[in-house]
Amino acid sequence: MFEESEDTPRVLVTGGAGYIGSHVLHALSDAGIPAVTIDNLSTGRRAAVPDSVPLIEGDIGSADLLERVMRGHRVDAVMHFAGSIVVPESVEKPFAYYRNNTVNSLTLAEACVRMGIDKIVFSSTAAVYGAPESVPITEDAPTIPINPYGASKLMTEQMLRDAGAAHGLRSVILRYFNVAGADPAGRTGQATPVATHLIKVACQALLGRRPALSVFGTDYPTPDGTCIRDYIHVSDLADAHVLALLHLRRGGGSLVLNCGYGRGASVHEVVRTLEAVSGEPVPAALAERRPGDPPQLVAAAARIREQLGWIPKHDRLEEIVRSALAWERGLEG
Ligand code: UFG
Repeated sequence: MFEESEDTPRVLVTGGAGYIGSHVLHALSDAGIPAVTIDNLSTGRRAAVPDSVPLIEGDIGSADLLERVMRGHRVDAVMHFAGSIVVPESVEKPFAYYRNNTVNSLTLAEACVRMGIDKIVFSSTAAVYGAPESVPITEDAPTIPINPYGASKLMTEQMLRDAGAAHGLRSVILRYFNVAGADPAGRTGQATPVATHLIKVACQALLGRRPALSVFGTDYPTPDGTCIRDYIHVSDLADAHVLALLHLRRGGGSLVLNCGYGRGASVHEVVRTLEAVSGEPVPAALAERRPGDPPQLVAAAARIREQLGWIPKHDRLEEIVRSALAWERGLEG
């Protein structure tokens, strides 16, 4: 912890009003690390940003805005969350994804280099692996994305690697598996009403805010026939970001790290866990497979622990679903 002064460098967090960005802003604030955020509020919410963090409403596609904020707030490092994240939408609107995720990341990386900023933590995704041959998936597994969302993130990864070699921009690339849950203190959570992610949708169904959960596919080659994912609590993910920033500030080199627990849960297991913690049934209907869903995505999770000393604190599935449900109950129905 240290006292903040005019001279204290800040970390620039893009997309700090969104689901994951806002959890990271709270984690930074809890750790006494000054931040500033740029968010265009297209999907984010002003209320998700901690009071102590200046929110600049604007678009990271503007190099002028980036440079003004970087200069004005003595920014020494960047955490880059702003982006589009809905896989089926990326299939329908690929250009929008390449523009928002890849082109804007290029603008941001160039601004870093121009302003002498040499540290960036980047939100990547397990979608860069596509449909992997086997699980758990190590960071060295082939990257063959099967949708524009994954491809748009992988291009940014490549750009950051090249910028590291050419300009000394050091990066920690975090490949998220299935992020879920909400801040245990209830300060922020997943607020978008048009949710597609399993745990949020299941909570909405349990609360009667949608008729039922559709279980997409029960004939997968898994023990109970439903898909298996590595669900990671958003607060553990936020801690990983703080550690990644500290690693770079200590002078550490570039890293690519999976963010998952190395343990999978099936759709049926998630539903049963939610029913157990709530004591209520989740209305569910068995449905056809959703196109593009790989049967299993589970992280090889050792590298992040070794490299950053990350120790998850909220890795019980019960806790993930309980926090997601508590947050969902607090939202306007
Ligand atoms: N599922 C259902 N019903 C629903 C929603 C999801 O059965 O209403 C199932 C899906 O078929 C899948 C599992 O729950 O088997 C998880 O689905 P999510 O939509 O919650 O998450 P995904 O695994 O599809 O997506 C996640 C990230 C993406 C990332 C992708 C990588 O959210 O950002 O992993 O494959 F691209």
